[in-house]
Amino acid sequence: MSNPNSLPKFSSRLAFILVTAGAAVGLGNVWSFTYVAGKNGGGGFVLIYLLALALVAAPVFMAELLLGRLGKASPPTSLRSLQKQSGSRLPWAPAVWLGVVSQIVILGYYSVIAGQAMHYIFVSLTGGFSAVSAEDVAALDSSFKAGPLLPLVWSGLFCAATALIVSADVRSGLERAGKLLMPALFIMLIGLVIYAALVGDFAAATNFMFGFSDITLTPRVVMEAVGQAFFTLSVGVGGIMMYGAYMGDNVRLPRAVLWIVAMDLLVAIVAGLAVFSFVFGFDVEPAAGPGLVFLTLPIAFGQLPAGSIVACIFFTLLVFAAITSAISMIAPAVQRMEESGIARYKSAWLVVSIAFFFSFLTAMSLTDWQHVFPLAALGFDGMTWFDLMREFTNNIVLPVGAFAFALMVGWGVGRDRVRAALPMEDTIFFALWFQVVRYLVPVAIAALFVYSLGL
Ligand code: PFF
Ligand code: NA
Repeated sequence: MSNPNSLPKFSSRLAFILVTAGAAVGLGNVWSFTYVAGKNGGGGFVLIYLLALALVAAPVFMAELLLGRLGKASPPTSLRSLQKQSGSRLPWAPAVWLGVVSQIVILGYYSVIAGQAMHYIFVSLTGGFSAVSAEDVAALDSSFKAGPLLPLVWSGLFCAATALIVSADVRSGLERAGKLLMPALFIMLIGLVIYAALVGDFAAATNFMFGFSDITLTPRVVMEAVGQAFFTLSVGVGGIMMYGAYMGDNVRLPRAVLWIVAMDLLVAIVAGLAVFSFVFGFDVEPAAGPGLVFLTLPIAFGQLPAGSIVACIFFTLLVFAAITSAISMIAPAVQRMEESGIARYKSAWLVVSIAFFFSFLTAMSLTDWQHVFPLAALGFDGMTWFDLMREFTNNIVLPVGAFAFALMVGWGVGRDRVRAALPMEDTIFFALWFQVVRYLVPVAIAALFVYSLGL
């Protein structure tokens, strides 16, 4: 079973693109992109975000796929063999073990947010969004968070669905989920933005997202843009490396990366246009923070003629986006255990059980433990378990992993092997990308770390 030749492959280029776009497109595109852009004033931030995506995150995304293609196994196993082949004495595998474990932590809080969206689908089906007032929406949110039970029931269901999909073999699990859910997501999104443009204020939304806001270019803003770019492409933790290993040899890498990054960007922008059309059309606050999607947007839904249906479609879209990302979070751990002879279904359920423990911490952070700050003594005052989990994964693990992967591809594997794994016609593109991965990415990430430590 640890024979690398037995590693399953996605059945086609399109399958690879859909499944990997599924990993990328998630809550980050709708839930966090809209609120981070909203908080930072829109247009100016979006521009910095585009630069961060093109110059830092996307090049690492390709580097990570490449490590998977070269390693042909679960991420830890891939990196161990690549390290040996390269003759490096640095331990490569621990860099991705950190990511493999962290993705389980990410699933812990991701499942609770997705769980709230699942709950809201249920509410919309029972007519709960028709003619709601701002107070009704606030009451709905606080009734969801009245105690840990409801968040845990829904996040448990979400984790169970994730385990069920990953239990199956790669083609009938991961691949089928991406092929079914991603097209459905695109259709719902297009319907939603057309409707939003008709009933909401599309001009204000466009202006907000692309108009020039006078943003002050602080390192903090750059950091949020880079952080959001890493998160949205899931780079630095090994999920993308795993999909790179499942990728068929006929996939043309730079082209596929372009498609996937474009899809991720397009979903974020189109979802942003829809959300802000509703927000401006019905006079609610765009800078509402993380509550934008759950607390602010439903106020707009309440005033729409077909509010419950729109709410149902919107939250279904959110759950579809979330589940295709969630499966990428446990795929590396499950594949690694399969290499040790453990059946996929056993490891999938084991891994989501661990994630569910972090769901418990998240659910408690939103309810009874809102004022419990476990690491206050270490200087993390005011941060709940949920805040700490997000801070640790987003601001430390993703950039550290991205930094390590860039060094491996830029300096460790060897230029010729890298070149050979990227059969592309365009040598200039390769040369540019390779220099970016060698120099720009590590320097940029190191600079951000130095800055944030100096705070
Ligand atoms: N890319 C996902 C999103 O935009 O929602 C988030 C994510 C998934 C981050 C998987 C990290 C990860 F390992
Ligand atoms: Na994303």
